[in-house]
Amino acid sequence: MVSYVVFGRGSFNQLDEILASYRRQDAPMIFLVDHFFSPGSGGDESPFINRIPLRGRDKVVLVDVTYEPKTSYVDKIAEQLKNEFGTVSGIIGIGGGSAMDLAKAVSLMMNNPGSSADYQGWDLVKKPGVYKAGIPTLSGTGAEVSRTTVLTGPTKKLGMNSDFTPFDQIILDPELTANAPANQRFYTGMDCYIHCIESLNGTYLNEFSKSYGEKALQLCQKVFVEKNKWDDESDDQLMMASYAGGMSIAYSQVGIAHAVSYGLSYSLGTKHGIGNCIVFDKLQEYYPEGVHEFKMMVEKNKIEIPQHITKGLTNEQFDTMINVSMGMKPLWENALGTDWEKIMTRDKLRALYELL
Ligand SMILES: NC(=O)c1ccc[n+]([C@@H]2O[C@H](COP(=O)([O-])OP(=O)(O)OC[C@H]3O[C@@H](n4cnc5c(N)ncnc54)[C@H](O)[C@@H]3O)[C@@H](O)[C@H]2O)c1
Ligand SMILES: [Fe+2]
Repeated sequence: MVSYVVFGRGSFNQLDEILASYRRQDAPMIFLVDHFFSPGSGGDESPFINRIPLRGRDKVVLVDVTYEPKTSYVDKIAEQLKNEFGTVSGIIGIGGGSAMDLAKAVSLMMNNPGSSADYQGWDLVKKPGVYKAGIPTLSGTGAEVSRTTVLTGPTKKLGMNSDFTPFDQIILDPELTANAPANQRFYTGMDCYIHCIESLNGTYLNEFSKSYGEKALQLCQKVFVEKNKWDDESDDQLMMASYAGGMSIAYSQVGIAHAVSYGLSYSLGTKHGIGNCIVFDKLQEYYPEGVHEFKMMVEKNKIEIPQHITKGLTNEQFDTMINVSMGMKPLWENALGTDWEKIMTRDKLRALYELL
């Protein structure tokens, strides 16, 4: 679990004070900042980047999240930092789920040898990383609390799941999510909604994940079903939903939408939030109530869910997607039980991919 959590509007202003006790001699803090906040490109009048409390040799690295994080990108950033500074005091990720994951992975790769691709899997990371803090600017993925960092590698899309992966500190400041465009906010918010449905309907469920999952689901319903306009309270609620949804899956697992959308993402580069929506839209058979409510939220929030995205793909492309998806064993087992391979055959999965 994350050791230290700060929540509140304006809590970003505590960053300097929070980092002070983790500074090691003159080793710098490195801020991996989502490129959305590049000076001049964000919608913000007073550039957010100027609010980052730089000291000494601290450095801001703007990270390109056009594509979701790749192992090669993580390795490149870690290598550059090692070459430039030898060692650093900490890595601070600021941005959406992609920036969160990059920060977690780079922190680990500052202290573990080889490539991040060597650690894609469960409990393969052997040493703690450097100090790491996460400051989300989009709400939904739960990456701020999870014990994984999802990476696309040379042969698979799979996280570095380990006890060393969670952040040491997170700062949850809902003000930072206020500029997110409605579509992006919905897709990332639905990631959280889908985490809840998959966790609450999974075979791994226990009281821990149920307690968090129910709360997160209730908050998602408040912002996307009950309320008629987006306001500060909505940003507050979705940020807490993301946190609780992440806590819920920390002790259970996600399910079919995630397993299938990982295949899409690997082959077609479909992004996590929208990919989950594309798949979840077609999962009535498995999550009838959740899918019914999801369709209502799509309509109410006037969002378009892309259709026919797998039309015209080759057999080879379908096979790759099926292989990536079938590799997510814990997700399938959570969704369908230990006999999942008898239920979700390759033919059935192919038919599902053809529906998307
Ligand atoms: N580690 C985990 O547990 C976990 C869980 C779920 C998803 N993920 C990962 O999270 C990523 C998806 O994250 P996401 O949905 O947050 O999107 P994202 O981080 O990929 O960002 C999407 C877009 O929004 C922009 N953006 C970020 N903050 C913004 C803001 N405040 N205003 C406007 N634009 C902003 C980004 O620049 C980017 O263009 C995927 O890489 C996925 O694999 C990780
Ligand atoms: Fe997710």
